[in-house]
Amino acid sequence: VGRAHGVRVSEEGAGGIPPLAVFAGTPHISSLKALSMLGAGRRSRRVVACLPGREAMDLGDLERLLAEAPRPSVVVASAGTVDTGDFDDFRGLAELKRRYGFWLHVDGAFGGFAACSPELRSLVEGWEVADSICVDLHKWLNVPYDAAVAFTCHRDLQVDVYSSAAAYLGHPGERPAPIHLAPESSHRWRALPAWFSLTAYGADGHREIVERDCRLARELSARMERSPEFELLAPVRLNIVCFALADAGRTDAFIRAVRDDGRTFVSPTVVWGRQGVRAAFSNWRTTERDLDIIWEALLGAAEGGGRR
Ligand SMILES: Cc1ncc(COP(=O)(O)O)c(C=O)c1O
Repeated sequence: VGRAHGVRVSEEGAGGIPPLAVFAGTPHISSLKALSMLGAGRRSRRVVACLPGREAMDLGDLERLLAEAPRPSVVVASAGTVDTGDFDDFRGLAELKRRYGFWLHVDGAFGGFAACSPELRSLVEGWEVADSICVDLHKWLNVPYDAAVAFTCHRDLQVDVYSSAAAYLGHPGERPAPIHLAPESSHRWRALPAWFSLTAYGADGHREIVERDCRLARELSARMERSPEFELLAPVRLNIVCFALADAGRTDAFIRAVRDDGRTFVSPTVVWGRQGVRAAFSNWRTTERDLDIIWEALLGAAEGGGRR
């Protein structure tokens, strides 16, 4: 945005550019935190309506907003929303980007891993036009906190922002060292566990983990559909089962009972104004056998008892 306005933000600050307009449908809270940290402010986010029963942006609404917005603006899209694992339509976004020229950021913290699998890859088709994409490694790569990757096709801008040129540290040059590419200057070797995991399991191993977790999520949702105790709040698109209890008044007690039982873990949420529960599959060791344990624990908690 600075470049479009002839302002080098890294040198002159963001004061010289007009207020940002950042469009998003169902952004993770961290995107709003980033707006606060950047000085753009959480209120620079403009709410884009979502499709009915979905957490994906209604691109008709986005286009209407873009047509009236200052250019260029920013669009934050989701590859895997927290509550229902929903995906924005990246092909549609690519077409809008061609016409309106916004910066497209994709939050692929979870859903970026869909790209590992031929079965799931269509969910992210078109995302390659994004200006920036982030993917968490401490989620589906199963490495320790805190590891993530951010991809951008604007290497020059990255160096401009993060350059740490000093006599004792060197200068970015043709092949900038990591110190010139990231916000932290000193940091631990996060890449090592990620490299171990990628080397040990390879593309096939990670595809298998992702597909297995998604299969287990679909199987859990199928069991819930057949049970009078639960109601699904969204179809399973990836690895998250978002459900409600038939007796909504028991939701908090249910979550406490699952926690006290200790065999599995679910988290509370609210979707479309309804109290819900998330069951997210992401562990590399979860198997069909665990699904029976999980199901028994969830049913036990739903029926008001503890361990069955
Ligand atoms: C979709 C999505 N985006 C971003 C994040 C933030 O990730 P982190 O806690 O690693 O900053 C999460 C974490 O749950 C997430 O699910």
